Amino acid sequence: MSELHQEFLPQAYTNTVESGSVAWKSPSNIALVKYWGKHGQQLPKNTSISFTLDHCATSTRLAFDPKSRPGFDITVLLDGKPQADFVPKIEKFFSIAGPYLPFLEDYSFTLHTSNSFPHSSGIASSASGMSALALCLLEIESQLLETPLSDTDFKKKASFLARLGSGSAARSIDGGLVVWGAHEEIPGSSDLFAIPYPDMVHEVFRDFCDTVLLVDTGEKVVSSTVGHGLMHDHPFASQRFDQAQSNMLAIKPILATGDLDAFIALVESEALSLHAMMLTSSPYFILMKPATLAIINKIWSFRKETGIPACFTLDAGANVHLLYPAKHKEAVRELIESQLKPHCKEGAYIHDQVGAGAVRL
Ligand code: DP6
Repeated sequence: MSELHQEFLPQAYTNTVESGSVAWKSPSNIALVKYWGKHGQQLPKNTSISFTLDHCATSTRLAFDPKSRPGFDITVLLDGKPQADFVPKIEKFFSIAGPYLPFLEDYSFTLHTSNSFPHSSGIASSASGMSALALCLLEIESQLLETPLSDTDFKKKASFLARLGSGSAARSIDGGLVVWGAHEEIPGSSDLFAIPYPDMVHEVFRDFCDTVLLVDTGEKVVSSTVGHGLMHDHPFASQRFDQAQSNMLAIKPILATGDLDAFIALVESEALSLHAMMLTSSPYFILMKPATLAIINKIWSFRKETGIPACFTLDAGANVHLLYPAKHKEAVRELIESQLKPHCKEGAYIHDQVGAGAVRL
């Protein structure tokens, strides 16, 4: 059993609440410097930073009622339909989070969840889903406490809990740019929870756009969890973790000055380095599809021809995130319609942009 983090253990519960229901909407996020490799209880091997998204989000209503049987009692409904296959992951999360939320065994929980994006779209629904669940649980805890947590401590514990469900979910509580993982040059950063990026951010990044081009909407051949596991004993693991730490340092002046050429070089290299880790794992695997590469090449040609600073990033899948400044929306959307859409599965893409973080419903 790993050590408990005392600061996240609650005060004794003083209030009795028989039943109720709480609801939160939590966004997805897209990493610029990637988290790939973990240890211990969901601790990252390197620091990561992401843009919180706006439209891609999960809304969760969590109802809690008295219960009689021992153990956890969880029912999950996705868009109103029972989803028994989601339950084991949530039970695992409950057992890890149990010491920090001692009421989890006291109630029967019904989770009504829905995503703003198609469930099978391959967009990381674990980040938005786990953060929405963590926020709902913490909201229930607030009702049981004599003195609820301050807003800052609430977000910190929510991020801590979300991390226990899925690492990248730690970065889906706050808006804007969010950092997870301790870095000596980023004050307040921690492996345990994410924080809003504390340094200067140029205005160009405040409303940056991200169009998610949906290349492959099927089940991934290798899950993120398995992929993280393959970073143990990976021949390039330590170089990769060092690279991420230096990229975190390098991104600071880029974010402060709005140097888009340097931003593009760093972000695209991070995406390809992430996939390079997959290509060189044992066993190796490839998550990119031919359409992923076709889109990347078209983005590169577009950038060369127009000088418009649009670039790509990838998460652990085949979909391409096309990142660009809001002022170039029109030209980039024309590129998407005319040249990129034909590579998307059923022509599907989602326009999104930097968002403000999770909200109580
Ligand atoms: C490639 O957070 O999905 O998107 O912690 O096992 O749930 P678990 O993994 P997950 O990994 C996401 C990895 C990534 C990069 C990133 O978001 O930083």
